[in-house]
Amino acid sequence: MRSKVIPVEPFDLVLFGATGDLSRREIIPSLYRRFAGKQVLPGSKIIGASRSGNTDSFLEFARASISKRCKDPDPGTIDDFLKLLSFVPLDARLDAGWPELRQAIRSDRIQAYYLSVSPSLFGPIAERIGGCGAANRSSRIVLEKPFGYDLESARSLNASLLKTFSESQIYRTDHYLAKETVQNLMAIRFANAFFEPIWNNKYVENVQITVAESIGVKGRGEYYDSVGAMRDMVQNHLMQLLCLVAMEPPWVYEPDAVRDEKLKVIKSLEIVRPEYIVRGQYLADGDRGSYREDAGNPDSKTESFVALRCNIANWRWAGTPFYLRTGKRLRARVSEVAIVFKKLPHLIFGKGKKIYNNVLVLRLQPDEGITMNVMIKEPGLGGMRLEQVPLDMSFSDALGSDGLSASAYERLILDVIRGNQTLFMRGDEVEAAWAWADPIISQWEENGETPESYSQNSEGPRESVDIFYGETPKWRPIE
Ligand code: BG6
Repeated sequence: MRSKVIPVEPFDLVLFGATGDLSRREIIPSLYRRFAGKQVLPGSKIIGASRSGNTDSFLEFARASISKRCKDPDPGTIDDFLKLLSFVPLDARLDAGWPELRQAIRSDRIQAYYLSVSPSLFGPIAERIGGCGAANRSSRIVLEKPFGYDLESARSLNASLLKTFSESQIYRTDHYLAKETVQNLMAIRFANAFFEPIWNNKYVENVQITVAESIGVKGRGEYYDSVGAMRDMVQNHLMQLLCLVAMEPPWVYEPDAVRDEKLKVIKSLEIVRPEYIVRGQYLADGDRGSYREDAGNPDSKTESFVALRCNIANWRWAGTPFYLRTGKRLRARVSEVAIVFKKLPHLIFGKGKKIYNNVLVLRLQPDEGITMNVMIKEPGLGGMRLEQVPLDMSFSDALGSDGLSASAYERLILDVIRGNQTLFMRGDEVEAAWAWADPIISQWEENGETPESYSQNSEGPRESVDIFYGETPKWRPIE
């Protein structure tokens, strides 16, 4: 199945942190792919901005990044793409370079300022953009996570951005929202008749959201050690997944209607009790270092794993726990949302028969798709024996791999140009998520709590099952 190619109008995109890691891995390759796919048109401009470098070094950087990250790039198309690129050296804290930037952008175009830089520079850069006269009503500012470190810093960041840009011009990215299957969560819920009637505490026993990674923190240990899994993953990516599972149907699929519903979910979250949280740190394994070695901090108390149980205090979800789990160096790279349905009210097949709960699993990665575990009769003679089988739909098998090959960043960049904020977080959403996470984190910090240890290639610390408190549900395997 082919996705429709609708070009976006030519734009000027200024990429701050142009030669950084995210630019190399995601932003430049995504822009190239959309150019090769004829969605980004030749009249567009991509202006790299960074403290050091020049147009030649930026072009070289872009060529290398495309060759490494894009499948079979065509040399002629790369050359055409590189014609869009130029570079302005500037420093967020100094005056030099800003007038040149102002000159380089065209005021009759959509202008996107993409800040792939340290969050401490978000405020200063936004103010400089305003100060040099480069911002107008069609400008957009795009910010990479982390958006703040806690509620206070997120608030002050929002206030500083709002001095130059209005909320409708601010695009706070959470790349999880742009993953194909994450968007599919909304399609499954709100474009089908049969899920929504049972999508509530009468039918759902629990929801399990797992984002397991097999990589460690080596190479970004210093940054990671200052945040930990709670700030790096739970406050944003897992929280967004939880919102999409739990929210009420928005009245229309438009940015504020969707974001209003997500905000209500975050506000309905109860404070998580300490006994419902387990933190972990991975141990060394052969020549793979421990978390503390990878982080370069032998006394670190930062978590590389968190599992927690949250309750949503509203009519739809009261009594249905949401279990969230994420960690590094786990057995496999698996991200999924599992809706575990309640047991049957009465069994007609006799006492000895084992009947499993129905589970609807949305696999975000790898191999995006949906599985529904259902009970059926085992084929053949010999009476009514029951077995559990998966009704399995892999999106790439069912739909072809075309649409799935677009990365989250390609979608996000095009949405910025189109002015569609649905997949971006609003300021009040981010603040509400910090208001929920802050007390949990400050309690750990005040008590100086040390995380539990776990082996690499495992499912996290043994203690992570404790948050079920003897109830029947158990974590789904990470495999
Ligand atoms: C980032 C986190 O936001 O998401 C990383 O900072 C994490 O620690 C990454 O590895 C996971 O993203 P994905 O798309 O690979 O699941």
